Order: sequence, then structure tokens, then C-alpha cells
Amino acid sequence: METRAGDPGAFAHFDLHRVDSPAFVIDAARLRENLRILQDVGERAGVKVLAALKAFSMWSTAPIIGEYLDGVCTSGLWEARLASEFYDGEITTYSAAYKPDDLDEILRLSDHVIFNSPGQIIRCSAIISAARARGESFDIGLRINPLHAEGEVPRYDPSAPHSRLGFPIDQLTEEHFALIDGLHMHTLCEQDFPPLARTWDVVFDLLEPYFGKFKWINLGGGHHITRADYQRDELVQFLLDLKDDTGADVYIEPGEAVALDAGILVGTILDAHENGIAVAITDISATCHMPDVIEAPYRPAMLGELPGDPEVIGDEGAVRLGGPSCLAGDVIGDYRLPFAPEPGRRFAFLDQAHYSMVKTTTFNGVPLPSIWLWDSETDALECIKRFDYETFRDRLS
Ligand SMILES: Cc1ncc(COP(=O)(O)O)c(C=O)c1O
Repeated sequence: METRAGDPGAFAHFDLHRVDSPAFVIDAARLRENLRILQDVGERAGVKVLAALKAFSMWSTAPIIGEYLDGVCTSGLWEARLASEFYDGEITTYSAAYKPDDLDEILRLSDHVIFNSPGQIIRCSAIISAARARGESFDIGLRINPLHAEGEVPRYDPSAPHSRLGFPIDQLTEEHFALIDGLHMHTLCEQDFPPLARTWDVVFDLLEPYFGKFKWINLGGGHHITRADYQRDELVQFLLDLKDDTGADVYIEPGEAVALDAGILVGTILDAHENGIAVAITDISATCHMPDVIEAPYRPAMLGELPGDPEVIGDEGAVRLGGPSCLAGDVIGDYRLPFAPEPGRRFAFLDQAHYSMVKTTTFNGVPLPSIWLWDSETDALECIKRFDYETFRDRLS
């Protein structure tokens, strides 16, 4: 998968020895810059912008996010609890399926509760009615699947054939609208505006007979709005038109765009040897700290990497970097390092604020990176959290 982020920004001048290793360092100034862009789009288009906690839920930054956005979207009970404990604004919850036992609390904590199928809404109707009878106020939504694939990689495309995510739009009927207040769709991943426009073209025709029958429509995430080349003016005009056409309130819930290029993962070379090519073991593990490197897969950009083509196996000057775990495939990639691969040397991978910190594991007893907040405008640096042996032990029994 091609990654189009990786702008070092102020990290180009950050001394990597100011923090532990491994460590996530988040730049609050870059976060605010992203949030200002999202807020501006929201205000100009008159739509609500929610931050997707699944991508970035470093809750010590919740007050910053709350200054700019309208709320957060969550993926189930635990994120909804986190949202209600720390974040401001509205809470929207969507899960591919709810456990009936979780639903009471989810309905209490969330403003919008979005289901993946009308069947589950019907099965949960007694729980929903009882919550309303207790005076709780929430909207019910249905996630639709536009059946229009725009994704680069099927694993990241909720509209890929036979997807389990969202109710197929061609099965929607008038009766479904009696069950719901709003609609949701999430079909994009790291995409710019044209894929959204093409998706809506398809959805428009199928949904037009039902305009006026839903109060709101949530266009999910996957919008790379804070990327420098994103067509933000077109998006604003599109959202204004969409509101006019449907008569509905509109929500978007970007995750990655909130934290794009706002964080690095700092690591250290522990050992190096030759095995046909130069190889180095680091204290950053792909599988434990950046699992998308293996899952997506993608090659994270490195701070200060020298030009060249390390993707060519054996490229002279390139070093294969991997983690300390026993997994043979715990390989991050081949890199042209800006220094000799000597033990003790520090380096950093770019654009690691989103979908890394939320996905870490302690497989092999590999320590979790500590979490730091830096403000590149003031140079203030704070260690937010260090993880110790007990964190590893207490996840096991
Ligand atoms: C329902 C939903 N909303 C929002 C998002 C956030 O997407 P992104 O981080 O790509 O903007 C996701 C990501 O998977 C999602 O599944």
C-alpha cells in the first residue's frame, strides 16, 4: 500500500535523545494545525466533524480535540466509555454487531447508535424502547454499504465484494426508514475527494426516493482532508450540495486526518550484522508497535532517510531493519540510514500517531513505547506515560 503522508514537519529539528526509546512523540502544534483544517471544513460546509477514536485515542490530547471538533465516533462500549470519560461533544457509536448486554450502556453514552443491519435493530428493539422509556435520548442509525468499491486494497475497502460491513444499499426499502433516524456509510481509506464524489453519485440514485426520511447522514472516515493536496474547496461545495439535496444534517468522522503527520516513533539500533545484505535489530517491532507495516503492508517513512531506492534488495547502503521479536517476518523495511548502523544510534519513523499507538501489543514481552507530547511551537516536552513490566504481566494471567 502506498502511503502519502510522511512529512517530517517540525520533527526535522527534534533531538531524538530527548525521549526514551522506543517512544511515540506527538506534536501538539501539528495536531492543532490538522484540527483547524477540519474545523474550517466543518464550519464552511455546515457539517459536524467527529474524531474517530479507533485511529487516535491518546486521551491526554482530548481537550485539544474538543477545542476544534464537534465530538468523537467510537466503535463499541469501551471506546464509548473512553469518549464519555475524557472527550467533549457528541458521541456516535457504530459497531459491526452489538452484544445485547453492552447495549444499555452504549445507548446511555452515545448520541447516535448505528447498526450494521436492520435485523439487529429489530432484535434489539425491546432494549431500545426500554432505554427511551427511561428517558434516555439517542438516535438510531443504519450503516449502508454503497456496493461501490474505490479502495486500493480490498482488506481496507468496506465496499469490496461480499463485505460484511454495512447493509447493501440495493436491499433498502421504505419500511427500514421506520426503524431509523439516520444513515451512515464508510467506504474510503486514505482517499482524496474524487472517490467520495463517485461513491455519492452511485448512492444518490438509490437513496433519492428516501430523501426527507432520514434526519442525518454520516459519511464515515477515510477522507484524507488534512493532506496538503486534498481538494478541500470541492469537498465543502459537495457537502453544501448534499445537505441541500437530502435535507439532512451531515456528519463526517475522520480518524487518520486528525493525527496525520502529527507523531513519530523513536527507536534505537540494538545490533547489526551482514547476511547477504546489511541487517539491524532495533527496539521497534513491526508486529508489536506498527502492525500495519505487516498487515497493510506498507513501508513507514524514516526521518532523514537518504535518497536512493532501498526497495531494491541489496541496494548498496541500505540496511534491513527489524524488531527484537522471534517472528521471522518482524521486518520494518530496508532503509538508507543517514548514519552507520551502529548499536545505540537513534532513528524515527514518521506519521506514527494514528493506527500505531492504538494497535500495540506486548507479544514476546516486547516493551510498549512510552508516550510523549511535544509542542513544536513552544518546545515544551512532557512524558505522558511509561509502560512497565506490570503492564505486560497484567494483560496475562
Ligand atoms: C466507521 C468508521 N468511521 C471512521 C473511520 C475512520 O477512518 P480514517 O481513520 O481512515 O479516517 C473508520 C475507519 O476504519 C470507520 O470504520
